[in-house]
Amino acid sequence: MKREWIRNKLKGQLWTQRLLYEELDSTNLEAKRYIEEHPDENGVVITSEVQTQGRGRRGRTWVSPAGNGIWMSMILHPKMSLEKAPMLTLVAGMAVRHALAACFQLDSQIKWPNDIIVNDKKICGILTEMRGDGVIVGIGINVGTESFDEELKKIATSVAMETGVSEPDREALLIAVLEAFETYYMTFLETEDLSGLMEEYNRHCINIGRTVRVIEVNREYTAVAEGIQKDGELIVVTTDGEQKQVSSGEVTIRGVMGYAR
Ligand code: BTN
Repeated sequence: MKREWIRNKLKGQLWTQRLLYEELDSTNLEAKRYIEEHPDENGVVITSEVQTQGRGRRGRTWVSPAGNGIWMSMILHPKMSLEKAPMLTLVAGMAVRHALAACFQLDSQIKWPNDIIVNDKKICGILTEMRGDGVIVGIGINVGTESFDEELKKIATSVAMETGVSEPDREALLIAVLEAFETYYMTFLETEDLSGLMEEYNRHCINIGRTVRVIEVNREYTAVAEGIQKDGELIVVTTDGEQKQVSSGEVTIRGVMGYAR
């Protein structure tokens, strides 16, 4: 990535530190180390060209090859209860969706809580973690990848594969994500919830009006998703007509017609 260009071009007030690495184990792990040394620093962005131990949700590996993705973590210290931190995952999803549309006219949707989907395949994943009173929002976007291995290609896609553009502009996308995040984050901070954002989120949420499989620790059930409420929980109606609130930390939602739908 063009480091100086990113350092100079990024607008806004939030991003005070931009740390651009060639190689890291994981930008989220680096963010944790950074917080240990700089416990109060807000608005830090860490990116790496390649991650040797990219991490996904639920202990999975996140494939992060050199030079064709955005692998980044943002460090924030919102002055609020950290119970609200999972909502930042939804804020980040909205920022990525917005940036993909702005940079590449790419129409994507959000699979609640935080996968970004194009044509029923995942183009971006988000992993939010806590360290001290810091929140780390890790974002992985497949940008220039031209092909995936047998297993991944059923569920993963990239900007290059969806637009036909080879080597899409990663710097422009990174800047667009960070600027969009700042805008949505400011709205979030006003109320410390998603009341100012949920209408837009719901408009772009792929699950709404569709049947989902809700997978809890001890049981599973089928329901129709109605939309998120202001705390980020997903409202679903079960086949018995019972309305339930599903919280993102506790369950997995699976589409019943393919990966996302
Ligand atoms: C998921 O969908 O499972 C979440 C994937 C999150 C991947 C990103 S890439 C940048 C940051 N560093 C990591 O190790 N993981 C996140």
